[in-house]
Amino acid sequence: MTRVVHTRADLRAAMAEVARPVGLVPTMGWLHEGHRSLLRRARAENATTVATIFVNPRQFNEAADFKGYPRDEERDIAICEAEGVDIVWIPTVEEIYPPGFDTTVRVGAVAEPLEGAARPGHFEGVATVVAILFAVAGAEHAYFGQKDAQQVAVVTRMAGDLGLSTQVIPCPIVRESDGQALSSRNVRLSAEERAAAPVLRRALVAARTAHDEGERDADVLRALMEEVLAIEPLAQVEYVSVADPLTLREVQRIEGPALFSMALFLGTTRLIDNELVGMKE
Ligand code: PAF
Repeated sequence: MTRVVHTRADLRAAMAEVARPVGLVPTMGWLHEGHRSLLRRARAENATTVATIFVNPRQFNEAADFKGYPRDEERDIAICEAEGVDIVWIPTVEEIYPPGFDTTVRVGAVAEPLEGAARPGHFEGVATVVAILFAVAGAEHAYFGQKDAQQVAVVTRMAGDLGLSTQVIPCPIVRESDGQALSSRNVRLSAEERAAAPVLRRALVAARTAHDEGERDADVLRALMEEVLAIEPLAQVEYVSVADPLTLREVQRIEGPALFSMALFLGTTRLIDNELVGMKE
C-alpha cells in the first residue's frame, strides 16, 4: 500500500520508521515508462522506495511552460501503487518554498554550458529543489534518468560538494520503438512533430557509429549530427555537443568517454537527447 504524504514534517516522520536503505525517485509527475524503470530499479536495490511528485516552478524559464506542464496526480499515484512504491511525497509549492524562503543552490562550471546556457536559472532551480528533496528524505540512493545527462552531472556535483549522504545513481534512457526518448514533453507534439522526433536518435546513432569506427575528431562528429538533423525540415536546432561527460566542457579530440548531446525545437516543444560513448562495460 502506497502512503501519500504532503508536508516536510510528515515525510520526515515517515522516514524515521522505514526500513533502510531508502531509494528516492524525484519526479515532476506525469509518470511514464522512463520513470517506472527508475522506480523498479529503486525498488530492486532498496528496502524502501520513495517517489516525489513536484512540478518545480523555479526550474522553468517561462511561466507558460510551468503552467502547461502536464499533471495527473491520481494517475501518478496509481502508477506508484502498481510499482510498489512505499511512500509518495507530493508537496505544495509553499511546502517546498515557504514564505521567507531565501536560499539558492548554484552549481558552478558544470551547470553553465548547454542546458545551462539555453535555460538561464534552470539548474539553480533544479539544484535547489533536489537539495531540499535530499535533505528532507535523507535517502541513501537517488535515481535519475540519463536522458537529462547534464542534470545528473549537476546534482552529483551538488550532492558531493555539500556532503549530502544521498548517492546519485544514473539510469539508462528508455526509448519508444522508433528510438524517441521517453519524455513528459512528447505529449505536446503534434502527429507530424512526433513522426519527426526520431531524427534526434538518428543523429546520435550516426555519431556513435562513426565513433565506433574510429572517428575521434569532435568537429567531424558535431558536423555529422548537424547534417542528419538538417534533413528534418521541422527541426530547429539549438545546440549539438560533444563534451566531457563529467565537466560538460566541449572537447576537440575524444580521448576517453564522451557525451554526444543535442537540443532542438519541433514546433514549440523543446526536446533533448544524448548518447554516452567510450564508457567501460
Ligand atoms: O528531472 C526532473 O523531473 C526534475 O528536474 C527533478 C529532478 C525532479 C527536479 O525537479
